[in-house]
Amino acid sequence: MLSCQKEFFNLKPEVHYLNNAYRAPLLKSSEEAGIQSLIKQRNPFDLKPDDFFDGVLEVRMSFGKLVNCRPSEVAVMPSTSYGFTSVLNNIKAGKKKKAIVVKEEFPSGYFSMERWARENDAELQIVEPDPSAEQKGENWNQRIIDAVDENVAVVLISSIHWMSGVKFNLKAIGEKCQKVGAYFIVDGTQSVGAMPMDIKEFRIDALVCAGYKWLLGPYSIALAYIGDKFVNGIPLEESWMNRVNARNFSSLSDYASEYEPGAGRFNVGETSNFIMMPMLKASLEQLLEWKPERIQEYAKQLDLPLRTFIKEIGGEVEEDDFLAFHLISPKLPSYLDVGRLKQKLEENQVFLSARGNNLRISVNVFNTVDDIQKLIEVVKEKL
Ligand SMILES: Cc1ncc(COP(=O)(O)O)c(C=O)c1O
Repeated sequence: MLSCQKEFFNLKPEVHYLNNAYRAPLLKSSEEAGIQSLIKQRNPFDLKPDDFFDGVLEVRMSFGKLVNCRPSEVAVMPSTSYGFTSVLNNIKAGKKKKAIVVKEEFPSGYFSMERWARENDAELQIVEPDPSAEQKGENWNQRIIDAVDENVAVVLISSIHWMSGVKFNLKAIGEKCQKVGAYFIVDGTQSVGAMPMDIKEFRIDALVCAGYKWLLGPYSIALAYIGDKFVNGIPLEESWMNRVNARNFSSLSDYASEYEPGAGRFNVGETSNFIMMPMLKASLEQLLEWKPERIQEYAKQLDLPLRTFIKEIGGEVEEDDFLAFHLISPKLPSYLDVGRLKQKLEENQVFLSARGNNLRISVNVFNTVDDIQKLIEVVKEKL
């Protein structure tokens, strides 16, 4: 099993950072790549045309390995909202009259779908878990699968819920979408990198992931798998970089009518992103070495004592089959004031997110048993 990899990060030693779902700390290798590429900008005279494209290609290759697609099926973008709109603009409702999201989907996904539904005169159906059920995972997944019928044009869902950490059964939902002819769009931001992802197995049509969480990259780069259904799509913008002749700087104004094949047409303009792209490249390479399944296993072992403790004190944790172990959101006993607890935790250098009566605890390979023990210790003081 993977051991703790804290030495690969520059986190302050006294801090217990349990909030990777908010923003990942920088890897040392990524930080160094950023510094070196910044320094390179001092002297642009040896910048070759290929340099505008090769770094991007390496990132597309690495992301392809992570999610099981070809580099040509990967597009580089600034955010998930950009990715969702890029694909949704190419989906027509036709005779179908419904679109599906889940309750409390992240706003970038929700608003993209809300607009699509409005513009396509369709109903946006929001599927929620059974409010009376203690465990959400099983009944929520079943409700989603049942909701996907012949009337549904598109389903947009996160791979795991960004607040509760509930794991969605992408395989079953993807199969149902394929059966009824609905597009299946997935927001992988809160799991890709820390949990296995396979766009083929899950029959995903488009997968969009912000880079600054579990991909351990810088803020403002997102990566997307964009599948076959969109190969003839119309991108949001017309960048010279996405045309077949783009590497040939001396003939750019022989305007090529063809886009780069595959998902390349959806790349944001100035894709090269000379400082951040090498940072993301370093992060992806490290992730491929660690492997998402091993990171997930590490997280599962690490937060096991916490999950046990929460149950002992009368709190609730989602059952294992529907839990992403790197992001758990246990419900605390109602007599605990979560706001005050969070404040107390921060005084003790424990950083995480809180919502309602839930704490969102997200762990990665830089976390240690001590981080979890410190959290338990502070909660115990408040009991
Ligand atoms: C599930 C999910 N998707 C997307 C994002 C980021 O969205 P965007 O890239 O549109 O800013 C977040 C940020 O917290 C998130 O949790």
